[in-house]
Amino acid sequence: MSYNVGYFVGSLSSTSVNRILSKALIRLAPDDLEFSEISIRDLPLYSPDYDADYPAEARALKDAIAAADAVLFVTPEYNRSIPGALKNAIDWASRPWGQNSFDHIPAAVIGASIGQIGTAVAQQSLRGVLSFCNARQMTAPEAYIHFTPEVFAEDGSVSNEGTAEFLRTFMTEFRDHVERVLTVLPRSDT
Ligand code: FNR
Repeated sequence: MSYNVGYFVGSLSSTSVNRILSKALIRLAPDDLEFSEISIRDLPLYSPDYDADYPAEARALKDAIAAADAVLFVTPEYNRSIPGALKNAIDWASRPWGQNSFDHIPAAVIGASIGQIGTAVAQQSLRGVLSFCNARQMTAPEAYIHFTPEVFAEDGSVSNEGTAEFLRTFMTEFRDHVERVLTVLPRSDT
Protein backbone atom coordinates (compact mmCIF):
# COMPACT_ATOMS: atom_id res chain seq x y z
CA MET A 1 0.00 0.00 0.00
CA SER A 2 1.38 3.42 -0.85
CA TYR A 3 0.06 6.80 0.23
CA ASN A 4 -0.11 10.11 -1.62
CA VAL A 5 1.06 12.96 0.59
CA GLY A 6 0.18 16.50 -0.45
CA TYR A 7 2.65 18.85 1.12
CA PHE A 8 2.44 22.57 1.79
CA VAL A 9 5.50 24.79 2.01
CA GLY A 10 4.42 27.80 4.04
CA SER A 11 7.03 30.13 2.56
CA LEU A 12 6.92 32.00 -0.76
CA SER A 13 10.60 32.87 -0.51
CA SER A 14 12.87 31.87 -3.41
CA THR A 15 15.52 31.00 -0.83
CA SER A 16 13.20 29.21 1.60
CA VAL A 17 14.90 26.99 4.14
CA ASN A 18 11.57 25.26 4.63
CA ARG A 19 11.54 24.28 0.95
CA ILE A 20 14.97 22.74 1.50
CA LEU A 21 13.58 20.94 4.56
CA SER A 22 10.71 19.61 2.43
CA LYS A 23 13.26 18.17 -0.02
CA ALA A 24 15.12 16.54 2.86
CA LEU A 25 11.90 15.01 4.21
CA ILE A 26 11.03 13.56 0.81
CA ARG A 27 14.52 12.06 0.49
CA LEU A 28 14.32 10.48 3.94
CA ALA A 29 10.71 9.29 3.84
CA PRO A 30 9.70 5.62 3.57
CA ASP A 31 9.41 4.34 -0.01
CA ASP A 32 5.66 3.90 0.22
CA LEU A 33 5.01 7.64 0.58
CA GLU A 34 4.62 9.62 -2.65
CA PHE A 35 4.70 13.40 -2.58
CA SER A 36 3.04 16.22 -4.52
CA GLU A 37 3.37 19.85 -3.55
CA ILE A 38 0.09 21.70 -3.05
CA SER A 39 0.90 25.22 -4.19
CA ILE A 40 -0.35 28.22 -2.21
CA ARG A 41 1.41 30.86 -4.32
CA ASP A 42 -1.28 31.95 -6.78
CA LEU A 43 -4.30 32.01 -4.52
CA PRO A 44 -6.11 35.34 -4.21
CA LEU A 45 -7.00 36.46 -0.71
CA TYR A 46 -9.98 34.49 0.53
CA SER A 47 -13.37 36.16 0.90
CA PRO A 48 -16.76 34.54 1.54
CA ASP A 49 -17.87 36.41 -1.57
CA TYR A 50 -16.18 33.63 -3.54
CA ASP A 51 -18.09 30.81 -1.86
CA ALA A 52 -20.71 30.54 -4.59
CA ASP A 53 -18.09 30.40 -7.33
CA TYR A 54 -14.51 29.53 -6.37
CA PRO A 55 -11.78 30.74 -8.76
CA ALA A 56 -9.73 28.13 -10.63
CA GLU A 57 -6.72 28.43 -8.28
CA ALA A 58 -8.88 27.65 -5.25
CA ARG A 59 -10.66 24.78 -7.00
CA ALA A 60 -7.24 23.36 -7.87
CA LEU A 61 -6.25 23.62 -4.20
CA LYS A 62 -9.32 21.74 -3.04
CA ASP A 63 -8.92 19.13 -5.80
CA ALA A 64 -5.29 18.55 -4.79
CA ILE A 65 -6.25 17.98 -1.16
CA ALA A 66 -9.09 15.67 -2.19
CA ALA A 67 -6.61 13.63 -4.24
CA ALA A 68 -4.21 13.29 -1.28
CA ASP A 69 -4.34 10.57 1.36
CA ALA A 70 -2.66 12.91 3.84
CA VAL A 71 -1.18 16.38 4.14
CA LEU A 72 2.17 17.57 5.48
CA PHE A 73 2.80 21.21 6.46
CA VAL A 74 6.39 22.46 6.29
CA THR A 75 6.28 26.02 7.48
CA PRO A 76 8.30 28.95 8.76
CA GLU A 77 7.34 31.01 11.77
CA TYR A 78 6.30 34.57 10.99
CA ASN A 79 5.80 36.85 13.97
CA ARG A 80 5.13 33.89 16.27
CA SER A 81 2.49 32.44 13.96
CA ILE A 82 2.23 31.00 10.46
CA PRO A 83 2.74 33.07 7.29
CA GLY A 84 -0.36 34.78 5.97
CA ALA A 85 -0.05 32.94 2.64
CA LEU A 86 -0.42 29.60 4.40
CA LYS A 87 -3.32 30.75 6.55
CA ASN A 88 -5.00 32.08 3.41
CA ALA A 89 -4.65 28.67 1.74
CA ILE A 90 -6.10 26.92 4.79
CA ASP A 91 -9.02 29.34 4.85
CA TRP A 92 -9.76 28.62 1.16
CA ALA A 93 -9.55 24.86 1.73
CA SER A 94 -11.82 24.97 4.77
CA ARG A 95 -14.69 26.55 2.84
CA PRO A 96 -17.40 26.81 1.49
CA TRP A 97 -19.15 25.90 4.72
CA GLY A 98 -19.84 22.15 4.77
CA GLN A 99 -17.08 21.41 2.26
CA ASN A 100 -14.04 21.54 4.54
CA SER A 101 -11.23 19.80 2.66
CA PHE A 102 -9.35 18.95 5.86
CA ASP A 103 -12.18 17.05 7.57
CA HIS A 104 -10.61 13.86 9.03
CA ILE A 105 -7.51 14.11 6.85
CA PRO A 106 -4.29 12.67 8.33
CA ALA A 107 -1.85 15.55 8.84
CA ALA A 108 1.55 16.43 10.25
CA VAL A 109 3.36 19.71 10.88
CA ILE A 110 7.06 20.51 10.88
CA GLY A 111 9.15 23.61 10.27
CA ALA A 112 12.61 25.10 10.22
CA SER A 113 14.01 28.43 11.30
CA ILE A 114 17.45 29.92 11.29
CA GLY A 115 16.92 30.89 14.93
CA GLN A 116 16.93 28.43 17.82
CA ILE A 117 13.17 28.29 18.36
CA GLY A 118 12.67 26.08 15.30
CA THR A 119 9.11 27.32 14.54
CA ALA A 120 7.73 25.95 17.83
CA VAL A 121 5.30 28.81 18.32
CA ALA A 122 4.12 28.77 14.70
CA GLN A 123 3.49 25.05 14.95
CA GLN A 124 1.33 25.50 18.04
CA SER A 125 -0.64 28.13 16.16
CA LEU A 126 -1.00 25.84 13.13
CA ARG A 127 -2.09 22.95 15.32
CA GLY A 128 -4.92 25.07 16.69
CA VAL A 129 -6.07 25.95 13.19
CA LEU A 130 -5.90 22.33 12.03
CA SER A 131 -7.79 21.17 15.12
CA PHE A 132 -10.63 23.48 14.26
CA CYS A 133 -10.51 22.14 10.69
CA ASN A 134 -10.89 18.62 12.14
CA ALA A 135 -7.64 17.29 10.65
CA ARG A 136 -6.27 14.12 12.29
CA GLN A 137 -2.89 15.40 13.40
CA MET A 138 0.15 13.38 14.35
CA THR A 139 0.84 14.69 17.85
CA ALA A 140 4.20 13.00 18.37
CA PRO A 141 6.98 13.18 17.51
CA GLU A 142 7.25 16.95 17.26
CA ALA A 143 9.99 18.41 15.09
CA TYR A 144 11.40 21.90 15.57
CA ILE A 145 14.26 22.18 13.11
CA HIS A 146 17.13 24.59 13.55
CA PHE A 147 18.33 25.14 10.00
CA THR A 148 22.00 25.53 9.18
CA PRO A 149 23.48 25.36 5.67
CA GLU A 150 26.27 23.18 7.05
CA VAL A 151 23.70 20.41 7.70
CA PHE A 152 21.13 20.95 4.93
CA ALA A 153 22.30 21.25 1.30
CA GLU A 154 20.15 22.97 -1.35
CA ASP A 155 19.17 19.61 -2.84
CA GLY A 156 17.83 18.38 0.51
CA SER A 157 20.71 16.11 1.39
CA VAL A 158 21.46 16.08 5.12
CA SER A 159 25.08 15.75 6.17
CA ASN A 160 24.54 15.21 9.90
CA GLU A 161 23.54 11.58 10.48
CA GLY A 162 21.81 12.38 13.79
CA THR A 163 19.59 14.95 12.07
CA ALA A 164 18.95 12.61 9.14
CA GLU A 165 17.93 9.82 11.51
CA PHE A 166 15.61 12.16 13.43
CA LEU A 167 13.88 13.23 10.20
CA ARG A 168 13.73 9.63 8.96
CA THR A 169 11.99 8.62 12.19
CA PHE A 170 9.59 11.57 11.91
CA MET A 171 8.56 10.48 8.41
CA THR A 172 8.26 6.82 9.38
CA GLU A 173 6.02 7.80 12.30
CA PHE A 174 3.99 9.96 9.91
CA ARG A 175 3.57 7.02 7.56
CA ASP A 176 2.34 4.85 10.44
CA HIS A 177 -0.01 7.62 11.57
CA VAL A 178 -1.47 7.91 8.06
CA GLU A 179 -2.04 4.17 7.92
CA ARG A 180 -3.74 4.13 11.34
CA VAL A 181 -6.05 7.03 10.51
CA LEU A 182 -7.00 5.67 7.09
CA THR A 183 -7.79 2.26 8.58
CA VAL A 184 -10.53 3.88 10.63
CA LEU A 185 -11.40 6.76 8.33
CA PRO A 186 -10.85 5.81 4.66
CA ARG A 187 -10.62 8.94 2.51
CA SER A 188 -13.45 7.79 0.25
CA ASP A 189 -15.79 7.89 3.27
CA THR A 190 -14.88 11.42 4.35
C1 FNR B 1 10.60 35.94 10.39
N1 FNR B 1 11.45 35.08 11.08
C2 FNR B 1 11.05 34.59 12.32
N2 FNR B 1 11.76 33.59 12.94
C3 FNR B 1 11.34 33.07 14.12
O1 FNR B 1 11.99 32.18 14.66
N3 FNR B 1 10.20 33.54 14.72
C4 FNR B 1 9.44 34.53 14.17
O2 FNR B 1 8.42 34.89 14.72
C5 FNR B 1 9.87 35.09 12.93
N4 FNR B 1 9.15 36.08 12.31
C6 FNR B 1 9.43 36.44 11.03
C7 FNR B 1 8.57 37.29 10.35
C8 FNR B 1 8.82 37.61 9.03
C9 FNR B 1 7.84 38.48 8.29
C10 FNR B 1 9.96 37.10 8.39
C11 FNR B 1 10.24 37.42 6.94
C12 FNR B 1 10.83 36.29 9.05
C13 FNR B 1 12.67 34.59 10.48
C14 FNR B 1 12.41 33.33 9.71
O3 FNR B 1 12.49 32.21 10.57
C15 FNR B 1 13.44 33.17 8.59
O4 FNR B 1 13.31 34.26 7.70
C16 FNR B 1 13.26 31.87 7.83
O5 FNR B 1 14.30 31.77 6.86
C17 FNR B 1 11.91 31.80 7.16
O6 FNR B 1 11.73 30.55 6.53
P1 FNR B 1 11.85 30.40 4.96
O7 FNR B 1 11.04 31.45 4.28
O8 FNR B 1 13.34 30.60 4.62
O9 FNR B 1 11.40 29.01 4.68
